[in-house]
Amino acid sequence: MLSQKAQSLKSSPTLALVSKAKDLIAQGHDVISLTVGEPDWETYPAAAQAGIDAIRSGFTKYTAAQGTIELRRAISERTKLDLNLDYNPQKEITVTSGAKFSIFSALQVLCDVGDEVIIHSPYWVSYPTMAELAGAVPKIIFCDESVNFKLTPENFEKNLNSKSKVFLFCSPSNPTGFVYSESELKALAEVLKKFPRVCVITDDMYNRLMFNKVKVAPHILQVAPFLKDRTVVINGGSKAYSMTGWRMGWAMGPEKIIKAIGDFASQSTGAPSSISQKAAEVALKTSEPDIEKTNAMLKSRLESALNKFKEIPQFKIYEPDGAFYLWINIEKALGKKYKDVVVSTSAQFGQILLEDYFVATVPGEEFGHAGYLRLSFAIESDRFNQAVDRMKSLILGMV
Ligand SMILES: Cc1ncc(COP(=O)(O)O)c(C=O)c1O
Repeated sequence: MLSQKAQSLKSSPTLALVSKAKDLIAQGHDVISLTVGEPDWETYPAAAQAGIDAIRSGFTKYTAAQGTIELRRAISERTKLDLNLDYNPQKEITVTSGAKFSIFSALQVLCDVGDEVIIHSPYWVSYPTMAELAGAVPKIIFCDESVNFKLTPENFEKNLNSKSKVFLFCSPSNPTGFVYSESELKALAEVLKKFPRVCVITDDMYNRLMFNKVKVAPHILQVAPFLKDRTVVINGGSKAYSMTGWRMGWAMGPEKIIKAIGDFASQSTGAPSSISQKAAEVALKTSEPDIEKTNAMLKSRLESALNKFKEIPQFKIYEPDGAFYLWINIEKALGKKYKDVVVSTSAQFGQILLEDYFVATVPGEEFGHAGYLRLSFAIESDRFNQAVDRMKSLILGMV
């Protein structure tokens, strides 16, 4: 009954783990979930109030498919402040129901069947499937520990060819939280100079959640403005503005591509939520002090987590520059027996951790790197530390 496309469609692995954790909670277990890809703090009050006001004032009807002009202006102004990039709100910005749909739509309008989408691994779990759904071939470039899990220009160039169509790029990275420096970005841009057919999609979802002194992650278009006419910039309300449930994302780029994304969205989801748009507009205009507090809180949670992990020397922890994930190498803890079974993969380790110790994590396999776990610290430090204690118990139980 199902189409070929549906048969090859993989459900989101993180969502599957979240749902397994929820089943265990429903059975009465005290599950600590470190899978969460969303903030545990509230949507900032001014934005939430704007949503309520939108409902109360009857702003509850369809808007323009590409989003209200007021929100697009707010996005344009925010982008100018954050990245010093200019986008015309009339023609070069479109709003979608979540940034995920912006990326999905961008791939749909840029790729033809057989085109290659370059994805650097470890990658966000949805990228390869999104590329496949666009009829394209995900070309995964494995970036190992020796290069800080980052794409180097040599590795990049080696993997580009006449079929390459889109370079799907993410910094700060989900899952590592690593940020590309200006010189690293410049080196990648130099490679792209040799491949003018390749368009860039930069997923900037976490670029305002930063732990060092820099307020915004460096951007490829700041160091390589020549790429602007073939780059789609993605951002949204979900992470820095804690608006995951409001489903607010946007794409900025050349008029031709943005119009196509807007048309694609208008024929599929239609206009994004009017209520959420009012809230996002206020979020973009008023949240700077909130974001500053959020970053201070995340930094303190990160320090607490790094400190706590000193108790598990078998794990290798990489300190992130941004986002709210810890990427950890658990290879040294593998190869031992737990209840007479040799635990040889991070997926197995994650499963035992969830089923016997009630800690949910996302195994590295989901991001293209076996031997690792991704832990979210969008959770209170006490709870996080409790989870680390349980990991320690599991390791002690392995012989
Ligand atoms: C790297 C990355 N990009 C995009 C998104 C999509 O965010 P949303 O669809 O909630 O706007 C996420 C969410 O987890 C993400 O981690």
